[in-house]
Amino acid sequence: MSASEDKPAPVVGLSLGSHYSALAVLTQEGSADVIANEDGDHLTPSVVAFGQDEEFSGTQAKAQEGRNAANTLVEFTALLGLPADSPTVDLHRSRHPFTLTSGTEGRLVYQVSRAGDVKESFTPEQVTTKLLTRLRESAQAYVGSDLAGVCLTVPADASPAFLAETTSACATAGLPVLQFISEPAAAILAYQAGKSPAELRKTDENVLVFDFGGSSLKLAVVAVRGGTSTILGTSQDPELGGTTLDELLMKHFANEFKRKHNIDITGNVKAEGKLRAECERTKKTLSSSNSAPCTVESLAQGLDLSSTLNRMRFDIMCSKVYGKVASDVEALIQKVGLRNDQISEVILAGGSSRIPKLQSRLASLFSGGSTRIRSEITADEVLARGAAVQAGLLNDYASEDADLLASALKDDARRASHTSKTVGVVDAQGAFHPILYHSTPIPSRRIVHTKASADGSAYVALYEGEKDAPAPEEEDEKAAKPALAERKLIAELALTGLKADEEVELTVQAIEGGELRAGLRALDSATSETCVIPVA
Ligand SMILES: Nc1ncnc2c1ncn2[C@@H]1O[C@H](COP(=O)(O)OP(=O)(O)OP(=O)(O)O)[C@@H](O)[C@H]1O
Ligand SMILES: [Mg+2]
Repeated sequence: MSASEDKPAPVVGLSLGSHYSALAVLTQEGSADVIANEDGDHLTPSVVAFGQDEEFSGTQAKAQEGRNAANTLVEFTALLGLPADSPTVDLHRSRHPFTLTSGTEGRLVYQVSRAGDVKESFTPEQVTTKLLTRLRESAQAYVGSDLAGVCLTVPADASPAFLAETTSACATAGLPVLQFISEPAAAILAYQAGKSPAELRKTDENVLVFDFGGSSLKLAVVAVRGGTSTILGTSQDPELGGTTLDELLMKHFANEFKRKHNIDITGNVKAEGKLRAECERTKKTLSSSNSAPCTVESLAQGLDLSSTLNRMRFDIMCSKVYGKVASDVEALIQKVGLRNDQISEVILAGGSSRIPKLQSRLASLFSGGSTRIRSEITADEVLARGAAVQAGLLNDYASEDADLLASALKDDARRASHTSKTVGVVDAQGAFHPILYHSTPIPSRRIVHTKASADGSAYVALYEGEKDAPAPEEEDEKAAKPALAERKLIAELALTGLKADEEVELTVQAIEGGELRAGLRALDSATSETCVIPVA
């Protein structure tokens, strides 16, 4: 609890990235505020550096990258829960100058040099705890009280080992995890904030969460139906991120330096560290300017690097990466059985999604339809903001009692199975009217009303459409287009002996296991018929 009784300690949202972390808190007015750290920055580098007899975390640690690269640890959160022999660990070894070894009981450890060249070992969890402690201090200073805990964003397919080590690091740092929220669900929540419950209930759309961060491209297609998010599919490319672009720039400038001074900096840890930090700055500047400087004082042998790069040249260098990003997006949409024009929104998350050319490349994938590319919320803050919205709900419960809090900790976006076909009815003119769309999370139920005919009978024939039946957002005359011959009759339901024009209710349910259940019920005469349609 906080210092004062009437102001309970808040729950805050935390996104713990492998490059940058952000905290946010829900204000009294209901908006999510990103917490500024002691340097006034919204993002804190996920970096921990070990000096001779000092330790640095966050911004100060990042400044050590060029000076003390071998003892400046980056991307450690990506190693949480991984065994020492994981291929990701090998990738880190090849990319970074620090030492990663197998410690006691085969646990992965960083070896850092301290005062007097003493080697010390720290697990990724211990390093993460140091960063989290710094983040907690910043947040406490910002909100002016203790914190009850965090709602933490995690990748949609986080492993149990990752979750366990993250939970433990947070607890040790004094930031107990009250709820995990998957990163795509957090992004969606950030954009849902401010919508009324009635608006949310009406939502029926497929959203692509495009998260291009520092070390990975994480994609998720999420069905958002009636306010519930269901992940239809995810993909992750762990070799594609902002670091990939930094390395392309490093190669370019190292070659330029070599041509000019005949000095090869390959393997020079200090020079590479300095160049890496400057290349990241150059890259970021190019997202807002047409040209950017790249200047490193005393890069090697006392000689400076002083150069510039224009955006067009940068985009040419990165064109293969942009192409791979675009093909990953298309592959995932296909994998979940949708077409690009059935994606209503693309939410941009992750710092690397700010690159203008990448945004236009992405927009061109969806140019044929009415897909909206959402970038109103700063891409590298969107996850923390979404987590803060969820944390706000926990605040309400936390001030009540523990049981209510526990009941609030339900799953956010479930990775549920979903229907693979559209089911609907055909009218007298032969037009198909979808009732339950494909990619609807299971279980789900749709109810439609119709009337008995003048002779007191009601008849409904249910048809199964193909996967590419029009999505709800396109529901207009196009929905009636496909010919009846393309539809497969799956069930017929009939009621007789009803009053003329009596109201009849048709219920179509997708149930666990993929079966469909359909029911026809006369509202006045209390007669009904149901049938179960087995999985084809
Ligand atoms: N304006 C910008 N233009 C281009 N790249 C940027 C910009 N701002 C940040 N980046 C890059 O975005 C990356 C960091 O993004 P983000 O903070 O989303 O990563 P992360 O969540 O820590 O990484 P990951 O999700 O891979 O763990 C870095 O590579 C950074 O250089
Ligand atoms: Mg991230």
